[in-house]
Amino acid sequence: MTTRPTTLTIPKPDDWHLHLRDGAMMKAVVPYTARHFARAIVMPNLKPPIRTTADAAAYRERILAALPEGVDFTPLMTAYLTDTTNPDDLEKGFRDNILFAAKLYPAGATTNSDLGVTDVQGISHILDRLQRIGMPLSIHGEFVDPSVDFFDREAVFIERILIPMRRSFPELRIILEHLTTKTAVHYVMTEGQIGRLAGTITPHHLWINRSAIFENGISPHLFCLPIAKREEDRQALIQAATSGASMIFAGTDSAPHPRTAKETANGAGGIFGAANALSLYAEIFDHANALNKLGDFLSTNGATFYKVPVNTASITLEKSPTPLPPLKPILTEDGAEIVVFPHQSALSWRIIESSSSYAAQP
Ligand code: NCD
Ligand code: ZN
Repeated sequence: MTTRPTTLTIPKPDDWHLHLRDGAMMKAVVPYTARHFARAIVMPNLKPPIRTTADAAAYRERILAALPEGVDFTPLMTAYLTDTTNPDDLEKGFRDNILFAAKLYPAGATTNSDLGVTDVQGISHILDRLQRIGMPLSIHGEFVDPSVDFFDREAVFIERILIPMRRSFPELRIILEHLTTKTAVHYVMTEGQIGRLAGTITPHHLWINRSAIFENGISPHLFCLPIAKREEDRQALIQAATSGASMIFAGTDSAPHPRTAKETANGAGGIFGAANALSLYAEIFDHANALNKLGDFLSTNGATFYKVPVNTASITLEKSPTPLPPLKPILTEDGAEIVVFPHQSALSWRIIESSSSYAAQP
């Protein structure tokens, strides 16, 4: 019998899907990401959204100003597509290295998506431009229609929107964000091999299935979009993440909301996982006996897909013999409280060291 490692050093990870918000909330959450991730793709669904290159440039400055001193962290900016996005502006932002990707929210699919795209057919000229300039398109893949069951939104999106879109724009570089179903995993893993399609997986979708939301009385802190699915879906996500497959990588979708916005009628979707993300991923990989694939998932695959260098810095994780209790809620300067996922489970893995250079392990 071989014993599992209890420490692991990997290149510093990147978070390929993150919500940082703005103002006091951003100031409270950004240190948690900047501590353990070298880069993050920052989602544009603010209120109002980040829609133009100028919006993104100003938002990037606000993020940089909110970083703790001495921290080396690069926010990668996105533009929120609407029915009236100007493709010339997208192109300019991309060429000037201000915009890293464009984000497609189907209108009404999630938090602050009201101004999202109402009809994907109507933005063909934008998709055409993205395809031509090689700008990645990040997609919230849910089909929003009263006739479609809430839990089927992702699968229906693939069928009705993504497959036709990829037929029309075969060279478009697409990231289907926060995969939640075995259907989506299967689609990305079979179609993604041509390097034009990738998928991100959050820590919380690896941890919980839909039953967990209801198990101890309904828990708003386990409600996110897309909503967690069945156990068989969670198992498919674990298999995909731990396979090392190049088209699958980490995107935490850490999405903080004040406790008051979660614990209420019409509670907001979004789970704040940034503070524990690496521990959560490590725990899943350890359990699946796949710690040797953690670096691919957290640090290598995404960089390769997005055509940026793998980080040269490293981090070291350690498994503690005694599980560490859940973190306390985070307080913002203006008095809001953010519940940290998982609010009820202890975790064993933690980060013990970050260094500025990575040496491959023997
Ligand atoms: C995100 C948010 O709160 O901004 N919510 C979520 O449940 N993931 C939006 C999103 O990524 O869907
Ligand atoms: Zn998100």
